[in-house]
Amino acid sequence: MTAATTTATAVATPAAAHARIAVLVSGRGSNLQALLDAIADGRLHARIVGVFSDRPEAAALDRVAPGLRWSRDARGYPDRASFDAELADAVAAAAPDWVFCAGYMRILGDAFVRRFDGRLLNVHPSLLPRHKGLHTHARALQAGDAEHGASVHFVVPELDAGAVVAQVRIPVLAGDTPEALAARLLPEEHRLVAAALALAVAGRLAERDGQVRLDGQPLFGPLQLDSAGILRPGSRH
Ligand code: GAR
Repeated sequence: MTAATTTATAVATPAAAHARIAVLVSGRGSNLQALLDAIADGRLHARIVGVFSDRPEAAALDRVAPGLRWSRDARGYPDRASFDAELADAVAAAAPDWVFCAGYMRILGDAFVRRFDGRLLNVHPSLLPRHKGLHTHARALQAGDAEHGASVHFVVPELDAGAVVAQVRIPVLAGDTPEALAARLLPEEHRLVAAALALAVAGRLAERDGQVRLDGQPLFGPLQLDSAGILRPGSRH
């Protein structure tokens, strides 16, 4: 397999054995649907082995068969640790190779993050490290950003601070509202999660000492999704 060490080299996503992905959700689940669609049309060689939610009413749960759903109302637990422990046991019982947070809006505590260390990814709707946390589209506009985007990153205990694997960028247009920007970004985000998870399930992604590795080589900047849906090495920072 070719190491992606030059900016000219596209990052191919070769076929792989079907890896097991657990997905954490809190809301509508369009990113989960993007993974299901990518699996269905052969872009992602994986199985969704469980969908887990802190909100039993999350529409995302309805996107998979009842036997794959797990949900508990996190508000019914005395503290974060007790909810996270139950969630972690349920996720572990599904024996995932990767755990993907697809619109999971609850902070994961240290114990959960440690238990799935190195195989826990999140998608965040901003060009990290810009705009961690909530209201990213409005904040990108307020900041006068010329570009906005989404990032897939390894999860660490600090919010939205883990090593960034891949990003997709869109221009901010004159007259954009937060809603318009969000609507334009979402389909790009869906392409990004499918492409990033394809790398993960192919066994090509790892994280060591806070740095992403692709095919064993450190990445010096996030991969960038091009208009053809191919992840390419970013520029060296
Ligand atoms: C997505 O835009 C995702 O990036 C964001 O929530 C949305 C969920 O949509 N996640 C975060 O903000 C996490 N910090 P979905 O439920 O339709 O996938």
